[in-house]
Amino acid sequence: MGVVALVPAAGRGERLGYGMPKALVPVDGVPLLVRAVRGLLEAGVRHVVIAAPPSDVATVNTVTAPLAQAGGAVHVLPGGAERSDSVRLALEHAVREIPGTTIVLVHDAARAFTPPEVVRAVIDAVAAGHPAVIPVLPVTDTVKRVDPEGVVIDTPDRASLRVVQTPQGFDAAVLLRAHGSGLHATDDAGLVERMGVPVVTVPGHQDAMKITTKFDLAVAEALLVGSAA
Ligand code: C5P
Repeated sequence: MGVVALVPAAGRGERLGYGMPKALVPVDGVPLLVRAVRGLLEAGVRHVVIAAPPSDVATVNTVTAPLAQAGGAVHVLPGGAERSDSVRLALEHAVREIPGTTIVLVHDAARAFTPPEVVRAVIDAVAAGHPAVIPVLPVTDTVKRVDPEGVVIDTPDRASLRVVQTPQGFDAAVLLRAHGSGLHATDDAGLVERMGVPVVTVPGHQDAMKITTKFDLAVAEALLVGSAA
């Protein structure tokens, strides 16, 4: 079973206001990207392909090199203009350079605290024959659809809604087809979904939250303090 994780980490992360790419922002001294890759390796992934900000490939190589010594291979390449471009470039690299790639995970560097058991649950579900697998959480807030003026259109039934996390797991051939399809979606499972491939869910975890704002970063710091206590 050849599991390769792709980590799109090429975003500028301007909403964090840190003056550096989000992937390199430290939480308790350790960059988000390093934490994310470490989690993947702890879950048993042996190859991680990182799409780095093009101007920071050398820095990303430096901060992730010690992880490779811990038993995994870490490949770093320049990312693209959009997240989907970064994923496509990393995917093409994996298929070309890593023999036997059969299962591909796509994991945002911004979800740096994803527990290894979530990663393993996704891998196990793909290995069991599901071509596309996503970790999800129930929605706790009531959600409204609104028109461009902000007037409510309707209220979807909350019981059938889920918040989607990463890593998203795929049969490698299916993800390759999705990225070559010319379709557009905000996540990789969305692309696969549009091709009519069934996407199944496994339980996600609150710790796999996406770090986007300063508030999220403060929550992550608090999580670390809590886990050390
Ligand atoms: O900006 P956002 O938080 O939605 O980005 C999600 C993930 O996609 C981040 O880990 C970010 O670094 C990555 N990304 C990328 N290439 C881009 C834009 C975003 O790899 N051009």
